[in-house]
Amino acid sequence: MVVEEACQTILQRCDGFKPQVGLILGSGLGNLADHIDRAYRIPYGTIPGFPVSQVAGHAGNLVLGYLGGTPVVAMQGRAHLYEGWHAAKATFPVRCMQSLGIDSLIVSNASGGINPRFHSGQVVMIDDHIDWMNRCGSNEKEINAGAASIGLPHRTGNPYDAELMESAERLALKLGFMLSRGTYLATLGPNYETRAEYRAFAKMGADMVGMSTVPEVLLAKQLGLRVLAFSIITNVAKPDVQIVTEHSDVLDWSYKAQNQLVPLIMRILNSMSETR
Ligand code: HPA
Repeated sequence: MVVEEACQTILQRCDGFKPQVGLILGSGLGNLADHIDRAYRIPYGTIPGFPVSQVAGHAGNLVLGYLGGTPVVAMQGRAHLYEGWHAAKATFPVRCMQSLGIDSLIVSNASGGINPRFHSGQVVMIDDHIDWMNRCGSNEKEINAGAASIGLPHRTGNPYDAELMESAERLALKLGFMLSRGTYLATLGPNYETRAEYRAFAKMGADMVGMSTVPEVLLAKQLGLRVLAFSIITNVAKPDVQIVTEHSDVLDWSYKAQNQLVPLIMRILNSMSETR
């Protein structure tokens, strides 16, 4: 019921615009929404049921319009579980975007690099994840990322779409850079890692660590959406050196990485519009 109510409000505010692709723009990436043509901008606070994030760098608007020739709905900022949102509430916008008609979801976030070959400002494509939000021993249903989906065991497989990933790699090369792939580990946050945690996560097989994305991706997969996700590396963990990660550095590096990620996402949308 609430999804229908939210969608009704959205459709009224955008003259019935029908998006095909959803975008979730994370820390510092909200500017991508400024490239959307003929944009309808709807503040989250005016949509029934939408969570409103308090985190710096998250504007909190739903923006509908054309990007790379494709009708899109973009989330300028997201709600995080560490703010205290129930996973079902934090992922509610994904349900709404699916109900509005999207068949694919492109997600972005900022993360800490664990793979020593990564550097700050690099864009990495997420090709798998470790759900450490959900598997870290918490049985608090309120904060459990799994609560975003139905409460029965179900198959996830790899939620990231192989075909879209291959296409993204080809398009990145055309833009003049090689897109690395990596495994993203999601923690509940809000604290950045200790050196011992960075070391432990490296042993677990993570290439980068962040505090978002996994709940949205799991729900999107369950709803049958094709998923593509990118992470901007904003700091690289050096477990043997005492470095403090600051949110302002995270925002600075993600602004800088937009030079690569914005044209890449435009090209991806362009190629999606050609193949429809
Ligand atoms: N850890 C967790 N989340 C992050 C980091 C980090 O080092 N950098 C940006 N988001």
